[in-house]
Amino acid sequence: MHSTGHPQVQAAAAFARDRLGERGEGAVATVGVVLGSGLGHVADVVVDNGGAAVEYGTIPHFPTSSVEGHKGRLVAGSVGGARVLLMQGRVHRYEGYTAAQVVFPVRVLHALGVRRLIVTNAAGGIGDGFVPGDLMLIEDHLNLTGDNPLVGANDARFGPRFPDMSDAYSARLREEADKVAAERSLALRRGVYAGLLGPSYETPAEIRMLKTLGAHAVGMSTVHEVIAANHLGTEVLGISCITNLAAGISKVKLSHDEVKETADRVGQAFSGLVLQLIPRLA
Ligand code: HPA
Repeated sequence: MHSTGHPQVQAAAAFARDRLGERGEGAVATVGVVLGSGLGHVADVVVDNGGAAVEYGTIPHFPTSSVEGHKGRLVAGSVGGARVLLMQGRVHRYEGYTAAQVVFPVRVLHALGVRRLIVTNAAGGIGDGFVPGDLMLIEDHLNLTGDNPLVGANDARFGPRFPDMSDAYSARLREEADKVAAERSLALRRGVYAGLLGPSYETPAEIRMLKTLGAHAVGMSTVHEVIAANHLGTEVLGISCITNLAAGISKVKLSHDEVKETADRVGQAFSGLVLQLIPRLA
């Protein structure tokens, strides 16, 4: 049995609070950010501006990532006068962690005060006209992983047995993101994110299926975290960086290198958007 229950979340939160130099019991931050593949630059900015960091590996019960391009540290600091907690790197179900382990950090963020969560990821583009480098506001998701982090006995301290998912990606926060993007003259795509188990990329037939199902982007993360966040009553804003065209849409083979290169290239526009959003959600 993996230790991912309420006592473990509390222990991890207490340890992180201490290591981040936080005294007292109040919220460390009300805004949290999960940074996906190659999108960790925002956390570096916060650290450079006096933020504090704690490595995942030192936090009790915290899962650590084995994926190249995924750092693993929790960062606390300020952006535009607002306090923020950032996860630089995440773990995935395909690494062999249970879905409950994958969402453990989201529960720790909640225990540290986070009530609005920005989740980001690298994703393959399926939507008509999508090109690598596009940013997509996630309107909704398809959880096609065949798993759910809430499987098992429900702990009412986290949330209800059957959480509502009809506003899983808060319409209110999407409106705010639209405003900030407009202020930055940044074009945002919008659409549905399909979350698959991975780690193999999809076949062209699977991408045709996903398109028929109404997906605009595909990836291997995010959906479990968003389910856990909704369970906790945490509002979610989701942003995908379209790092490549999905299998069969372009002729080129998919590679993690392409994913990292595009994420690097778009990093600045992406970071600018997230940094401006943080104080607006605080
Ligand atoms: N498929 C799945 N996950 C991804 C992709 C993709 O094309 N690109 C980045 N993450």
